Amino acid sequence: MKLCMIGTGYVGLVSGVCFSDLGNEVICVDKDQDKINNLKQGIIPIYEPGLEELVLKNYKNKRLKFSTNLSNSIKKSDIVFICVGTPTKKNSTGADLSQIFSVAKEISKSINKFKIIITKSTVPVTTGDEIEKILSKKVNKNKFSVASNPEFLREGEAIRDFIYPDRVVIGSNDKKSATKLRNLYSPLISKGAKFISTNRRAAELIKYASNAFLATKITFINEIANLCEKAQIDVEDISIGIGLDKRIGSRFLRAGPAYGGSCFPKDTKAIVNTADKFKINLSVIKSVINSNSLRSKLLLKKVNEILNKKIRNKNICFLGVTFKANTDDMRDSSSLEMIPFLSKKGAQIKYYDPTGFKKEFSNLKNVNFANSIGEAVKGSDLVILHTEWNDFKSINFKKLHSSKNLKIYDMRNIYSPLKIKSQGFKYFGIGR
Ligand code: UGA
Repeated sequence: MKLCMIGTGYVGLVSGVCFSDLGNEVICVDKDQDKINNLKQGIIPIYEPGLEELVLKNYKNKRLKFSTNLSNSIKKSDIVFICVGTPTKKNSTGADLSQIFSVAKEISKSINKFKIIITKSTVPVTTGDEIEKILSKKVNKNKFSVASNPEFLREGEAIRDFIYPDRVVIGSNDKKSATKLRNLYSPLISKGAKFISTNRRAAELIKYASNAFLATKITFINEIANLCEKAQIDVEDISIGIGLDKRIGSRFLRAGPAYGGSCFPKDTKAIVNTADKFKINLSVIKSVINSNSLRSKLLLKKVNEILNKKIRNKNICFLGVTFKANTDDMRDSSSLEMIPFLSKKGAQIKYYDPTGFKKEFSNLKNVNFANSIGEAVKGSDLVILHTEWNDFKSINFKKLHSSKNLKIYDMRNIYSPLKIKSQGFKYFGIGR
């Protein structure tokens, strides 16, 4: 099939490349000329394991193309995916849909034959209706169909999540288009992915409800972890103990810092905003947002206790600063709250991240990037394991640090407390 992906951010680029790898002809369009030039040379704008190889392979075999010419790319395609950003609006909690609507206007000028227009971006319920209205102003209704096909890719695991999805959701009010889209996904469905066909609004809501539910699950275990810490219980036992109940499930029950990234914080706010418009109070999700927003403060309070209330001049090392492992994404990472706070309190901070230096900390006092784990850990009073990169899972602290006074705050519960303690270091984890 001939596909056009509008927007080469996370969603558009990963989905476009994967669709081309499944044998489709795909044009990825972006208005950013530099980005497109770079992609043509195999320079990838985001860090995502496996993506570069797939881009090079499919660009070489010409199933994957890159362009800045939106109109031509739409004209050449049968299916057009809208994959532009839907960030939180300034001074509001709702999603900013300006990019979606401006793309819809562009599409309406370039419909030369029947096309299915799909939102892959995360968009609030009724956005498909709005896009349909915009298109109808210029084009006859029998020339297009608007569908919703939410994506469930995780950064760092995006290619695997695309190829082996738990489910493919298609929301369409038109049966013919739903069948066409099912065919597009048939290579994945035949490998075991479940296919769900719903009306358009339901598909839009499935995406938000999924992210809000996962955020709730994480927040739930984080609060249980707070209780565990006081009651001398290891939260890891609780995660296993409840996760084995198939009705609960074991995934997304890892206690840690506040959830971050470009999706959960934004989407939890946006679903509450949508519900408010329908005069529905999503009190559970509101409470999740509130709990998560207080989490970094709670963890910083613990840092203060670990350092016996003397943060000034203490050498603190952060291992990992991105919002999670296997990504270079800093958006809504809890380190963005923790590091500036500790710097303000007079700590000397070194951080190491496998994805390198972060401009977000460049103007902070006494915050420096270290080139290796060893350099970061050396001379520290406290090591904070902030992200769960594999690189951090078997550090020989004894080799890197001579003093027994080293304290380790393992915010991802990577290490066995007993093992670390047996090496003579002081260990603190989350909910244990
Ligand atoms: C999330 C969803 O998992 C994807 O299904 C969805 O497609 C994506 O948002 C999106 O809407 O585009 P992502 O933001 O990449 O994916 O990251 P996650 O792996 O879900 O992690 C989000 C946050 O939750 C991170 O801060 C992570 O550290 C935290 N987390 C996750 C935990 O603290 N505990 C867990 O058990 C799992």
